Amino acid sequence: MCGIIGYVGDKDVVQVILDGLARLEYRGYDSAGIAVEADGVLHVAKRAGKLANLREQLASTPLPSSHHGIGHTRWATHGQPTDANAHPHLSDDGRIALVHNGIIENHAALRADLEARGIVFASQTDSEVAAQLLGVELAACGDLTQAMRATCGQLAGAFTLVAIDAQDPDRVVAARRNSPLVVGVGQGENFVASDVAAFIDHTREAIELGQDQVVTITPSSIDVTDFDGHPATTRRYHVDWDASAAEKGGFDWFMRKEIFEQPRAIADTLLGRYDERGQLTLDEVRIGPEELRRADKIVIIACGTAFYAGMVAKYAIEHWTRVPCEVELASEFRYRDPIIDSRTLCVTISQSGETMDTLMAIRYAREQGARVIAICNTYGATIPRESDAVIYTHAGPEIGVASTKGFTTQVVACYLLGLFLAQVRGTKYGDEIRAVVAELEQLPEYVQQVLDRADDTYALARAMVDVQDFVFLGRHVGYPAALEGALKLKELAYLHAEGFAAGELKHGPIAIIDSTTPVFVVVPPQGRDQLHDKVVSNIQEVRARGAHTVVLVERGDESVAPYADTVIELPRVSTLLQPVVAVVPLQLFACELASALGNDVDQPRNLAKSVTVE
Ligand code: M6R
Repeated sequence: MCGIIGYVGDKDVVQVILDGLARLEYRGYDSAGIAVEADGVLHVAKRAGKLANLREQLASTPLPSSHHGIGHTRWATHGQPTDANAHPHLSDDGRIALVHNGIIENHAALRADLEARGIVFASQTDSEVAAQLLGVELAACGDLTQAMRATCGQLAGAFTLVAIDAQDPDRVVAARRNSPLVVGVGQGENFVASDVAAFIDHTREAIELGQDQVVTITPSSIDVTDFDGHPATTRRYHVDWDASAAEKGGFDWFMRKEIFEQPRAIADTLLGRYDERGQLTLDEVRIGPEELRRADKIVIIACGTAFYAGMVAKYAIEHWTRVPCEVELASEFRYRDPIIDSRTLCVTISQSGETMDTLMAIRYAREQGARVIAICNTYGATIPRESDAVIYTHAGPEIGVASTKGFTTQVVACYLLGLFLAQVRGTKYGDEIRAVVAELEQLPEYVQQVLDRADDTYALARAMVDVQDFVFLGRHVGYPAALEGALKLKELAYLHAEGFAAGELKHGPIAIIDSTTPVFVVVPPQGRDQLHDKVVSNIQEVRARGAHTVVLVERGDESVAPYADTVIELPRVSTLLQPVVAVVPLQLFACELASALGNDVDQPRNLAKSVTVE
């Protein structure tokens, strides 16, 4: 978590950094801070709370003009979100300022050692340990880049560090291990940041930094080495979206804008997936057909919403490929001694591509000999870089902390992967695959139809503004859709919301249902008769307990009408694809209810977009 930025150039440094932090605030918003150098002295402003608090402080007490500076927006791990614990941190002698993202695991031992040497700490953070250590190393060698390398060599854990030296007005130095860092390549100016969004207003040229690398930027140079000072190879790329994609575009929340972007995002995710012979092709899957045919098990690994996308994928992939498929929470995966080997194909799903639990699971899986395909929305992020292959979801930047277009495009990418594997393994004929792809290509239009009726869902949400408990039910692929609906409501409205497999309800959870509990039910399409009828029975069971039933059902299905207090109509799609349309009203409902409650929809309490700690 945490967003960090460093800038060197002729523009108004404070403005560049504040604008960058505004775009990075999705990564954490417990505090924000900025440091600039002027006339050989470092000036720091930092405040607990959102960036708005820092802006207020700077409006009354501006920082001097400068040519280089660093900024930080924090998601607290060590130490309360207070002014003192906010970044940047200064070294004891005031010569360097540093910002940090990640967790320094050996901070206690380092701190004790530094204190024994007379260093006085100003905060409780692990980050200040890095600042103090860097200060000591700089005092010893006099060169910030060299001091950064020496510091990194002593740190354990995950970190991106960015620092400036009061006595070196043209240089920003940064380093990374297990935490993101990109360089923005400008003209007469350069940037470092957690994410390209931070500098997208200024340049779309970027360099991705590898593991254990240090970068030194001046207005006219970018120099990258490893921690030992050897020149490192890097990869430069062009960012294929611009600043407008990271603006709200007339919506009140990024989340609402992103919900409405889903038709485009899904269409983009499906683009260019056929070759000239009419074969489904996933260019980014650079694992040979032999290996894909050899795989005897698929393990899908992800967290949160991405995990629910993986649950949907299991049904589709097993059905199309007949290969056993497990879905595992990344945070649990490596702790249960999973049975995987070189015949296991792991599929990891991550919008950000930086989720630490998922990254650690990938490393573990690869150590056991498994091949890993990442499904990811963020070009050049750590997870795709450390995987054997990647399918990008092309959803564009997702800024709202609650994932929406991230989820639907992940599900679509999983369908593509399932069909691709079915093609390679010969478990589906070409015409069968093309028929499913043709239906996938209809999904943008179907999602648009759901969005066109958003007002009905908004009215329902506003009518439920006093409700405290919600239940979401689904069977088969409707079950993960129900879980996702409940998660959206929890994270945005801070209400008790639970998702259950509809058939499981009678084994206990039905006890919580009474006349105060709205129950949302995702009804499968009628094509799967048994599945459909069982869910209709489940609706009757909760109705009999007095629940208000909100039924999401395909157009023309009249069978639920007698048991539904509210009907949300869905376009007709086949069962396996239904989550993509069913989840949309649930996203709209959570967004509207949280807005009605006065909550910050884009930055819900206690959360951060990119979870880079385990
Ligand atoms: O970036 P990732 O897809 O790896 O993130 C995984 C989860 O942290 C994420 O989906 C989280 O659950 C969202 N806040 C859900 O809206």
